[in-house]
Amino acid sequence: MTHLLIHNIKGLVQASETLPSRLKGSDMKKLPVIDNAFLWIENGLVREYGHEKHLPESLPADVQRLDAGGGFVLPTFVDSHTHIVYAGSREDEFVDKIKGLSYVEIAQKGGGILNSAQRLRQTSPEELYVQAEARLRELLSFGVGAVEIKSGYGLSTESELKMLRVVSKLKKNYPLVQIKATFLGAHAFPKEVEREVYVRSIVEDMLPAIAQEGLADYCDVFCDKGFFTVDECRYILQNASRYGLKPKIHANELDFSGGIQAGVAEKAISVDHLEFTGEEEITALLNSQTIPTLLPSTAFYLGFEYPPARLMLDADLPVALASDYNPGSSPSGNMLFVLSLACIKMKMTPEEAINAATINAAAALELEESAGCIRKGRRADFFITKPIPSLSFIPYSFGSRLVAQTFLKGQLVYKEASSWS
Ligand code: NIG
Ligand code: FE
Repeated sequence: MTHLLIHNIKGLVQASETLPSRLKGSDMKKLPVIDNAFLWIENGLVREYGHEKHLPESLPADVQRLDAGGGFVLPTFVDSHTHIVYAGSREDEFVDKIKGLSYVEIAQKGGGILNSAQRLRQTSPEELYVQAEARLRELLSFGVGAVEIKSGYGLSTESELKMLRVVSKLKKNYPLVQIKATFLGAHAFPKEVEREVYVRSIVEDMLPAIAQEGLADYCDVFCDKGFFTVDECRYILQNASRYGLKPKIHANELDFSGGIQAGVAEKAISVDHLEFTGEEEITALLNSQTIPTLLPSTAFYLGFEYPPARLMLDADLPVALASDYNPGSSPSGNMLFVLSLACIKMKMTPEEAINAATINAAAALELEESAGCIRKGRRADFFITKPIPSLSFIPYSFGSRLVAQTFLKGQLVYKEASSWS
């Protein structure tokens, strides 16, 4: 038996036995916080928590004590949408963008997803793993404990498999991190292949090969102007379902693409991006279990309008937040900054933003039973902040590195190094 007691916690966030598995509308404003708290972990699972005055008197003699130093303790974030397996970077396009080229113009010039696909083909699986691993570890430093990782820079059977095998290796080497893999063959059309031929190859070559190796949990498609049509997306997702891969959609990032309605029709677990969302899309989502997932760092980086989070919340929808960490539209996995953008740019309250990045993001990965809140008998996945005056300080102090330590199953997986002590 190992026992760990975290004490001197200024506020223990989302420790509750009664929270629902997803929060919508005005319920997202509520965030349980226990002041002056302790958290007791036994063998990696939450044993007990509460106000310090309720600290059990007879703790096991071998209990290891950790002083939280007056920091807050939160359940680890769930980053339910990333593309962290990619080769190199694309800061040359970043400069093109500064000079005035649009995301679509850059893509048409051979940049964008196709640029990353070409680099990926030239990169060995070993090198790809090293780069992806560094990004995964970086996520831990932002308080992330569960993550979804997509393929989609392969765009051929061989390269898509190469990407998903890297994800598989991350799963194997980082068993404490809850990782879900998503096949995103329908991310872009490779240059040398005709449209119909590529769609057919996704369905006839890639899906069976991926299913045979058990490499993916979900199938995603980029349903947007200039990319895949609603019909192509639905056809791919329906075939993916036959192989047990549940649907997710990149929808309505560039236009009112019909992607949200297609996601609802296909019973997608989540639809993500949603910059172009109006009444019709909201009505469709209201009649579904599909979680709208917003990626504000993408809108920030591309200079787009932000998704209308307030409209969605006021309509009683659940909202999740994720980073979209990728080389072309969100070269950052900083979930704390995502929270800041959600508050500053989308007018979400700090409580709503935290709920969106924990409970609802867990629902977007079907991890309701093992992530998103702190509950007795469950995995002790949490992070301790530096001493801060309040929870609102987290999104307020945008860009600050506020995570001091991250724990998964009660084990330390990240600790900030101090250069001065
Ligand atoms: O989620 N929207 C589509 N795909 C990515 C961007 C990919 C890229 O530019 O490399 C996204 O934003
Ligand atoms: Fe994405």
